[in-house]
Amino acid sequence: MPDPIVFNKQMAEETYDAAASSYDSIWFFKDCGQRLIDLLDVHPRAKVLDVATGTGMVLMPAARRVGPNGHVTGIDISHNMLQQAGRAAMASGLRNTDFLRMDAEHLQFPDASFDVVTCGFGIMFFSPAAFGEMYRVCKPAGLIGVTVYDKTVAVDWRLLQIFNALAKEYKVGEFALPRPALLSPEETEALLAGCGFNPRETYRETRERVFANAEEYWDKIILSNWSRVFVTNLDEAARVRFKEDYLKRSMTAMQPDGFHVSFPIIYSIAQK
Ligand SMILES: C[S@@+](CC[C@H](N)C(=O)[O-])C[C@H]1O[C@@H](n2cnc3c(N)ncnc32)[C@H](O)[C@@H]1O
Repeated sequence: MPDPIVFNKQMAEETYDAAASSYDSIWFFKDCGQRLIDLLDVHPRAKVLDVATGTGMVLMPAARRVGPNGHVTGIDISHNMLQQAGRAAMASGLRNTDFLRMDAEHLQFPDASFDVVTCGFGIMFFSPAAFGEMYRVCKPAGLIGVTVYDKTVAVDWRLLQIFNALAKEYKVGEFALPRPALLSPEETEALLAGCGFNPRETYRETRERVFANAEEYWDKIILSNWSRVFVTNLDEAARVRFKEDYLKRSMTAMQPDGFHVSFPIIYSIAQK
């Protein structure tokens, strides 16, 4: 069995550059961004850093919350994701934002620059260095808030399992994220504590949606996130066959009203 290919920064950049145009179709990211900002109770005038901001799902509600006397900086390794975030902020009339292409492992800000640091669904891509950086740029008594997927809630992962089984059959290769994509609340708190933060509160909820057909799930979830590397790693003919096989096999997960897809989410908040 060959060693898994670690999903490194270059792959993150290429994958999210390619996924940017359909990324916003992952329905729950926007609501989760809003919820993270509500839970953090970010104060007006705060200076916020949103790490791995993507298309701005956390940044936009943060910018609305801090108001014209506050400021939100979004950084990401993908130029195309940032470009989309910038356009969305502009269209919403949010002028208290800026967007910088930057690696989370090398934050180009002085120590203690921000009242609040946020990261929505990004820490699975991060090395310990990135956690150290988020701690460094946070002000003393400042807050950090992250969202991750919860491994302790039993949900129907069949569409994903069918996808993973097919990827094995097609010998796409195994991709490993720098750290697990699914965590428990305790593991999430331990990660934040490990870089110096004091865990404050952890919330959990499950976001569910019914997809009319598996093709919709394919377009809106599989191809819109890092899972797309499994598909793009195949040649054109195999890609077509893979999708056909996937759509066929996924019928085993079909319920009378469609495909039920749930993502259990952890929101974890800690203080410096
Ligand atoms: C799943 S998206 C999350 C985007 C956004 N925070 C949200 O809640 O929708 C993950 C993002 O992490 C970014 N990313 C991955 N590795 C990174 C790194 N080392 N530095 C900065 N951004 C990174 C990707 O480019 C992508 O935009």
